[in-house]
Amino acid sequence: MTSHTYDIIDFDPEVFVQQYWQKKPCIIRKLFPNFQDPVDADTLAGLALEEDVDARIVSFADEQWDVHQSPFTADDINESCVGSWTLMVQGVDNYLPQTKALTEKFAFIPHWRFDDLLVTYSVAGGGVGAHYDEYDVFIVQGMGQRRWQVGHKLNSSSEKLYPHAHLQQVKPFEPIIDIVMLPGDVLYIPPFYPHQGKSITECFNYSVGFRAPNQSELLQGLADGILDNDLLTKRFCDPHRVITHKRSAVNGHDIFVLKQLMHQFIDLDETDYLLTEMLSKTYHPIHDEYALESPHSSAEMLRMVNAGLTIAPNLGIRPLYPEHQTNEFFVFFINGRRYAVDALDRPFFERLLNETKLKITPSERLQFSSVNILAELVNEGFYEVLD
Ligand code: SIN
Ligand code: CO
Repeated sequence: MTSHTYDIIDFDPEVFVQQYWQKKPCIIRKLFPNFQDPVDADTLAGLALEEDVDARIVSFADEQWDVHQSPFTADDINESCVGSWTLMVQGVDNYLPQTKALTEKFAFIPHWRFDDLLVTYSVAGGGVGAHYDEYDVFIVQGMGQRRWQVGHKLNSSSEKLYPHAHLQQVKPFEPIIDIVMLPGDVLYIPPFYPHQGKSITECFNYSVGFRAPNQSELLQGLADGILDNDLLTKRFCDPHRVITHKRSAVNGHDIFVLKQLMHQFIDLDETDYLLTEMLSKTYHPIHDEYALESPHSSAEMLRMVNAGLTIAPNLGIRPLYPEHQTNEFFVFFINGRRYAVDALDRPFFERLLNETKLKITPSERLQFSSVNILAELVNEGFYEVLD
């Protein structure tokens, strides 16, 4: 199935995850056969003008790199697009439902690892130069042709170059992959592999990016949860103290007991929930217009469930739950909000949280408390009733 170690011909997610994910880059030809771009240049430029959208224009003209960061006016965009330029718009998955098919192709990696979809439009010669990212990315080639090169793995202490204060690059590298991507081809790049794309023609690229918390982010995220939680009241105690002759010294045993206190907190079942809550948080608030102006009452929702309906997640939601749960309530989180339903209804809610569209048939028997939560999910704008 592999003709070259970096070249995948028949893509099989299981083989990919075993052999490539987080290990080595690869090119997956025609993963999207007959690829049609879900956006056009005007739509992308229009998005870049929106106040809360994170966008950048990187240009190279007269031997000079330049970077302009949103918010933009139309004039800013016109003035920044000089020489060989690239317009990059982050978080497009939160705005354009037609990009869903792109991100869903990679749903074999759990949702909590997904970060966002970056869409780039570049003119011939456009690119951001040689650099590495700290996260995994699948770069899908849309319209046009682009030459991509990927080098041997670097590490976080590798020398960085800053040709512009907001542009991090690395020095030229020896490529281990050097290919021209065509529409529907995908390049997978694990963290710390230097890469660069240079457009041969006008191009669209779609970067499906992942995230992975570091220890500091984990501890800070948990700290937020701890503040709202009064479980963590166990205090240091030292009934077996022996006297000290160095009162400023914190001895190894005391440090050990302090660390034990923290380990005990990490090992609590509640921490599974706090972690999942943290992972479900997103940077983008969901769109205001998704919340219903005339919310459904629970009785109305019950009538709808009894008649049968189809329900789907709205854009920008991150529903997560700890898989291991044995309590009488099944707990899940959506964008940092906690919900608990009767464990009897766990199979229904698992389908709701994992599927892209759920048909609820009249034979579905849900607890009334679950119907209540379903109404809340729709009223809040996390889910949408399709029919
Ligand atoms: C690009 O499309 O030029 C940027 C994507 C990347 O290299 O991460
Ligand atoms: Co990159």
